[in-house]
Amino acid sequence: PRTDPAFAPNPHSLRGLAQDLALCRRCPLYANATQVVPGEGSRAPLMLVGEQPGNDEDLAGRPFVGPAGKLLNQALAEAGIARDKTFVTNAVKHFKFIPRGKRRLHQRPSAEELALCRWWLELETKLVAPVLIVALGASAARSVFGRPVTVGKVRGQILEAGGTKAMATIHPSFLLRMPDPDARRREYAALVKDLVTARVHLP
Ligand code: URA
Repeated sequence: PRTDPAFAPNPHSLRGLAQDLALCRRCPLYANATQVVPGEGSRAPLMLVGEQPGNDEDLAGRPFVGPAGKLLNQALAEAGIARDKTFVTNAVKHFKFIPRGKRRLHQRPSAEELALCRWWLELETKLVAPVLIVALGASAARSVFGRPVTVGKVRGQILEAGGTKAMATIHPSFLLRMPDPDARRREYAALVKDLVTARVHLP
């Protein structure tokens, strides 16, 4: 697919950003995805960043609407955070997958794809102007902090990224992949705890 890594529009609103995103050819992922998945929400004090759209998000054109999104909604609610008071987005805006029969298997975005798509995350951050950014998982943390971050080492800590308060925690999909129900319950509780920490840092 034809790419244009220099594609660099300058939208002045989130709506304009979503329109520009649909034209993005900065990396090849646009070619096989159904559609681009922009962030969702308006100017909000809390910005949540995932890795990339999954199968359901690619089909719906909206972030975190599949199984990981349901778990995220539940954890947010338990932490006392209304999802509609947040801006929810992803480090990479197109679904990356390999076809396997009728299924499409999620693939991790590369460091290069994360770096190319970071352009959009920075624009979103400027337009949303959040008080706190929460990165869900290692890919999101790499993009938010602009460097590789070991989530296990810094999770739940209020740090700083590009002048904004930022925290890394686990990705809800990580919970969905845990086979042991006890370990999964513990990790879920730890995710809720991190989100409570985030909430108390909001205005
Ligand atoms: N996982 C993500 O990281 N983002 C989504 O939007 C859905 C699943």
